[in-house]
Amino acid sequence: MRNSEIGSVIVTERDKVAGILTERDLLWASAAGVDPAVATVGLWMTAHPDVLGPDEEVDAAWSSLTHHHYRHLPVVESGQLLGVVSLRDLMAMARLRPPAEASAEVPPGLEGVVVAETALGDVRGEEGFYHYRQYSAIDLAQSRSLEDVWYLMFFGELPGGEEARRFSEELAVLRDLPPRLRAQIAELAATGGPLEVLRSAVSMLGVELGWRPSLDTDDEMLRAQAIQLCAVVPTILSAAWNLRRGAEMVDPRHDLAASANYLWMLAGVEPTETQARAVEQYQILTVDHGFNASTFAARVIASTGADLAAAVGGAVGALSGPLHGGAPSRALAMLDDIGAPERAEIWVREAVERGERIMGFGHRVYKTNDPRSLFLRDLALSLGGPVVQFATEVEEKVVDVLTELKPGRRLYANVEFYAGVVMQACGIPPEMFTPTFAVGRTIGWCSHILEQVAHNRLIRPTARYVGVAPPVAVPARR
Ligand SMILES: CC(C)(COP(=O)(O)OP(=O)(O)OC[C@H]1O[C@@H](n2cnc3c(N)ncnc32)[C@H](O)[C@@H]1OP(=O)(O)O)[C@@H](O)C(=O)NCCC(=O)NCCS
Repeated sequence: MRNSEIGSVIVTERDKVAGILTERDLLWASAAGVDPAVATVGLWMTAHPDVLGPDEEVDAAWSSLTHHHYRHLPVVESGQLLGVVSLRDLMAMARLRPPAEASAEVPPGLEGVVVAETALGDVRGEEGFYHYRQYSAIDLAQSRSLEDVWYLMFFGELPGGEEARRFSEELAVLRDLPPRLRAQIAELAATGGPLEVLRSAVSMLGVELGWRPSLDTDDEMLRAQAIQLCAVVPTILSAAWNLRRGAEMVDPRHDLAASANYLWMLAGVEPTETQARAVEQYQILTVDHGFNASTFAARVIASTGADLAAAVGGAVGALSGPLHGGAPSRALAMLDDIGAPERAEIWVREAVERGERIMGFGHRVYKTNDPRSLFLRDLALSLGGPVVQFATEVEEKVVDVLTELKPGRRLYANVEFYAGVVMQACGIPPEMFTPTFAVGRTIGWCSHILEQVAHNRLIRPTARYVGVAPPVAVPARR
């Protein structure tokens, strides 16, 4: 590659395309400490890469390269390699387009489009790294409490010992539900699940406490509202869960840390230190994660100057979708369905061949291992239990099958695959998996709302009209 000054080579075996090896693969290999004298190309290449036929249109090549972030694609006919088309080749024949047309070209799902600036954190999908402010989120989960991370997100720095103590005390007394909200939750819980109750109860909380539009609320007051909302969300969720199953609401305790108190309210039993810490670490890991759908929804609503409850209620709605926050219980249900490790391969193969998605795998941003999933896998292994070993075996099989059937998509386990395993080991019922995610993520949403309001500009993009042509517009007469 160096001699020919090219960024990739196609690997062939008996004249058939076997894989593609790129500069990036070689960087990975060298970062992993591979000995170049003995390593083989087959181990580091992407096997069975996507290919193009010689008759395909340039537009097809262009969208395949840009959609999958490839820089090169082999061109193949009847299994024989004819050539390689590269992003550079296509750039060379790029044509000038009117600016209006070019600026309207956004990828479906806004993938990769920068829509705001934030100082709250970032996700680096190629590296498998994410951070909250200037700290690695994984390091924070290893060494800090949920309250410390909450403080970091809201105030911009980690608290010192005294600040941390005062902040925790402040939060603990905000856990109680306003009396009228208790009755309203009881009514909602008779028919709705915990997330449905949450999305309505958050709105009711705003009404009950008289929250004004954020446009008419000063920054200090808005932050105080956000602190109260995050403190009360676990109480709403656990009340909704208990009332739904016909049990009594368990009042919050003020002497427990946030995650331990959440587990207490769910079961009415004080959790062990190990359980409380595991759930706390999970909730730290899920506080924030770039411009995911619910965070974006929260910021869009906040940008209209609406009140805090409106923005968080919208975010809860976005999180409830299975493609976002609704996967952990489905991932666990999949393990149940697979039943035994030897059935994993055929189960996954058939599901992918039917065009289904394997829950807990794949990510819009991560194109390598999701660091949250790696952390949770270790956490699950340390907690033990029969499902954990089985889950690791299934993970391995799913990744193998997806690599074979979806070459080049780089699909790995995401945060949700082990989340269910960890939560189950801590005694959380499947119905409460996504709500437990929401407890941590509310802190992230509120941080984004505060940031949006502090530097606001209405978020109001445009769409390209692709329907039946309307009549030619006649300029309005004065
Ligand atoms: C998370 C997710 C929505 C991201 O999707 P996305 O960025 O829009 O990715 P795309 O839909 O463009 O998928 C790219 C390709 O990978 C495939 N793919 C992505 N995730 C897959 C999965 N979990 N199982 C099987 N195939 C998958 C798609 O079918 C597509 O294949 P194609 O190119 O042949 O059409 C997607 O990976 C998914 O649905 N995962 C399962 C749900 C889940 O775990 N959600 C929790 C996310 S934290």
